[in-house]
Amino acid sequence: MKFTAVASTAALVAAVTADPIGHGWQAPKPGYSRSPCPMLNAIANHGYISRNGKNISLPELQNGFKEGVNFVADILTQVGNIALTISTTGNASTFNLHDLGAHNVIEHDGSLSRKDMYFGDQVPFDQATWKTTVSQMTGPTVPIATAGKIRLNRLAAAQAANPEFTLNDLGTQASVADTALYQIALGDMVNGNPKTKYVKILFEQERIPFNEGYKRKDDPITQEKLDAVIAQVAAVV
Ligand code: HEM
Ligand SMILES: *[C@@H]1O[C@H](CO)[C@@H](O)[C@H](O)[C@H]1NC(C)=O
Ligand SMILES: *[C@@H]1O[C@H](CO)[C@@H](O)[C@H](O)[C@H]1NC(C)=O
Repeated sequence: MKFTAVASTAALVAAVTADPIGHGWQAPKPGYSRSPCPMLNAIANHGYISRNGKNISLPELQNGFKEGVNFVADILTQVGNIALTISTTGNASTFNLHDLGAHNVIEHDGSLSRKDMYFGDQVPFDQATWKTTVSQMTGPTVPIATAGKIRLNRLAAAQAANPEFTLNDLGTQASVADTALYQIALGDMVNGNPKTKYVKILFEQERIPFNEGYKRKDDPITQEKLDAVIAQVAAVV
C-alpha cells in the first residue's frame, strides 16, 4: 500500500515536471495582465515572457515565442508593433497583455472563445462561446477544413446575434490568422491538423500541452509557412 502511494506521487511529479525546466505552467495570480489571445496568455503562464503579463517589449515577445513554440522573430514584428500602438504602460516600447483587448485593433468580433464586446468583456475566455466552438471539434484532430468551417460558423452566428457586429479589414485578417496560428503552432507545419486535445488545453487552460506530448518544433515556424496555412484557412468556404 505504501509502495502504491509512493509510485503514484512519483507519477504525479513526472507529469508536472514534463513542462520544460523553468517553464512550468502556473495559473495567473490576481493582478496579472492577460489578453484575449490564448497563446499569449499561455506563453505568460509558462514564463516565456513575464508571468505578470506587464511591460512586455517587442524583443521579449520575440524571445518568448522563439523559446516556447519556435516562431521566428519576424512573425511577431508586425503584430507586436500594433500592440505597442495601444499600450497603456506609459512606455511606448512596452505593452500589457490586457492592452490587446482594445476593440477593432487586433481584437475583433466573432472570436472562437470570447464574447463579442457588445455582450460583455471581450478579453477573458468565455465558456458559453467556447462550448459552441468545441462542440464542432468532434474528431481526434482538427483538420484545417473543419477549423475553417468552425470560424465561418462563428462569424455567421456573431453577425446574426450582435446588432453592432463589425469586422474591419484587420479584424478579418486576424480572424483567419487566429485559426491558422493554432493550426500551425499545435499541428503540422504544412497541414496543421492538431490533436483536438491540444487545442482544448490551449483554449481552456491557456497552457502549452507539453505534458500531453506536444513537442516544440525543431524547425522554426516562418512567415512563409504561416502564410501557406493562412491561405488554406482563407480558402475554406
Ligand atoms: C504562436 C503564436 C500565436 C498563436 C497560436 C495565437 C493564437 C490565437 C488564437 C487561436 C486566437 C483566437 C482566440 C479566439 O478566437 O477566441 C488568438 C486571438 C488573438 N491573438 Fe493570438 N496567437 C499567437 C500570437 C499572438 C501575438 C504575438 C499577438 C499579439 C502580440 C496576438 C494577439 C491576439 C489577439 C489580440 C487576439 C484576439 C483576437 C480576437 O478578438 O479573437 N496573438 N490568438
Ligand atoms: C511597468 O512599468 C511601469 C512604468 O514604467 C512601472 O511603473 C511598473 O512598476 C512596471 N510594472 C512591472 C510589473 O514591471
Ligand atoms: C521602456 O521599456 C524599454 C523596454 O523594456 C526599456 O528598455 C526602457 O528602459 C523603458 N524606458 C523607461 C523610461 O522606463
